Amino acid sequence: MPCTVIVGAFWGDEGKGKIISYLALKDNLDFCVRTGSVNAAHTVWFEGKKYALHMVPAAFINPKTRLLIAAGANVDVKTFFEEVELTNVQGRIAIDQSASIIEEKHCAQDKASAVNKGIGTTGRGVGPAIEERVRRTAKLAKDIPELKPYLADQVQEVNDGLDTGKKVLLEGTQGFMLSLFLGGGYPYVTGRDTGASAIASEAGVGPTRVDDVLIVYKSFITRVGAGPLPGEITKEEAQKRGWYEVAAGTGRDRRSAPFDFDLAKKTAKINGATQAAITKIDAIFPGCRGAKIYNDLSKEAKDFIKEVEDKTGVPIVLIGTGPEAMEIIDRRK
Ligand code: IMP
Ligand code: MG
Repeated sequence: MPCTVIVGAFWGDEGKGKIISYLALKDNLDFCVRTGSVNAAHTVWFEGKKYALHMVPAAFINPKTRLLIAAGANVDVKTFFEEVELTNVQGRIAIDQSASIIEEKHCAQDKASAVNKGIGTTGRGVGPAIEERVRRTAKLAKDIPELKPYLADQVQEVNDGLDTGKKVLLEGTQGFMLSLFLGGGYPYVTGRDTGASAIASEAGVGPTRVDDVLIVYKSFITRVGAGPLPGEITKEEAQKRGWYEVAAGTGRDRRSAPFDFDLAKKTAKINGATQAAITKIDAIFPGCRGAKIYNDLSKEAKDFIKEVEDKTGVPIVLIGTGPEAMEIIDRRK
């Protein structure tokens, strides 16, 4: 803080939603800016209720946080209105006037494309909508009459906020390894760069204004869709280990693999991480479930965390021990 970028270390679904919702309350965020689009679902558990958010920033659980959708983002209007109602954030959420719009036809194109079927895209139309934006024929938020009451100049608001010391969180979506440019996985990637620099860029925040890059790891790795996943285990094995997950957005099986220290090191470096979070420590060390104090973790869990820190060179400041926003160990001063 005051300006922190949250970036996922692997192929998405690292638990960014949980970390962001915790920070919203704990650090009393002034602004939370969501980048990316509806292909990403961020899961927030709060007061026993589960939310899978595709448009609304995960910080919504703090009623004082201003919620913004970035200039570089792509908006699905129907999903936006559904989630605004679900989370009851009317009056404190806005979309940058220059964000672009995903139309029905983009979803149809996404689903009809044989190439996209092979890649296993989410079918939410994001790739085709970005193509249209690049061709300079896309509709923008300011062209949609129903969005009028929700328009803002997100870029100006956030930069003015930073001038006066406001706390800003830039919410990355998906994982670094799905980056169109950087993860090395092309063509099994999404339609944009998902790295920390791109997150700041989509929100119009210059690199020198970012104070911290918080990279989010999960205690094991998951991936949905096609493409390589080093160390992948079978679904049966994942179920046995308690790692089996279903995608929050599409309901597909998530493939899984053990934590990869070399990959964690590489992604920390490329994203310029200054801090790290690790979620789901209770999935690999069940005795740690619900712990809120570092010393309540088992020796094995502490050794694992130390190993991640030693190998990545990044301090692990937040440790997720359960799905609820407040089930976390916070090692920050
Ligand atoms: P697209 O982003 O829908 O074009 O899909 C491209 C690839 O990224 C597919 O393998 C998707 O499953 C994957 N993907 C897209 N968004 C997410 C996400 O939020 N979490 C995990 N995987 C994602
Ligand atoms: Mg997700």
